[in-house]
Amino acid sequence: MIAVKRCARSISRLWQRRRRVRPWQLESMEAKFTAVHRENTWRSAESVSGRGSTRSETEAIRRELPGLIEQIGARSILDVPCGDFHWMQDAALDVDTYIGADVVDAIVESNARFADHRRRFVKLDLTRDPLPRVDLVFCRDCLVHFSYADLTAALANIVRSGSKYLATTTFPDRPENRDILTGQWRPLNVQQPPLSFPAPIRLIDERCPMKGYTDKSLGLWRIEELGLDCLQSVATGGCPPVSASVPH
Ligand SMILES: C[S@@+](CC[C@H](N)C(=O)[O-])C[C@H]1O[C@@H](n2cnc3c(N)ncnc32)[C@H](O)[C@@H]1O
Repeated sequence: MIAVKRCARSISRLWQRRRRVRPWQLESMEAKFTAVHRENTWRSAESVSGRGSTRSETEAIRRELPGLIEQIGARSILDVPCGDFHWMQDAALDVDTYIGADVVDAIVESNARFADHRRRFVKLDLTRDPLPRVDLVFCRDCLVHFSYADLTAALANIVRSGSKYLATTTFPDRPENRDILTGQWRPLNVQQPPLSFPAPIRLIDERCPMKGYTDKSLGLWRIEELGLDCLQSVATGGCPPVSASVPH
């Protein structure tokens, strides 16, 4: 009898696990990443933005970011997504304006404690909300979570903002990319299709310690040199709106 009860309990647990909705199965961008935040899906005890946002994994980027900013003479930054601002609070950013943006309400509200006369936090969806025009759009660990349709929409939106430079995550050793559902993750080489960016102006090796991901880097591009022809037309209203090619 006890064995039967135990067996029934295990089956019920298995069934519940199978029925649990994963963040990437949710409908909207906001719902997906709010669920990730609520459930700490990326399982880091240090940062809700995940293991890649811990102090140790951002050591190289924190060291090199001030030099990158100086190199391009940036005075304004849009950090989208900013996540929980965990490591960025230690980065020595010499800029007049820092805007941190994220699609999750709770993250933006919690970051308000870091705001000051140069720094503010706003809620926005990178794929669709109007973005401020800045010298540098800093987009770390974000496009790797987007389907092709959403990353195309995000880039069209960045182009539309009229900002000058883009710094974003890339895995330069990957020979090809694959599509995913937004909310999942895969390494993305932005120099391979569907983005096919030119060579970056600068490439920062993040010195990622994770086996198989040691090519994780942050690349810098002048936005007008990205060669995203269709995206450029989207920016000026010439192309049809980018439509979703895979279900969210
Ligand atoms: C892995 S974290 C990276 C955060 C930060 N860039 C870092 O390096 O620590 C990804 C963040 O992207 C945010 N996000 C996802 N989709 C977004 C969107 N469409 N617009 C703005 N933020 C988004 C999530 O809420 C999450 O905070």
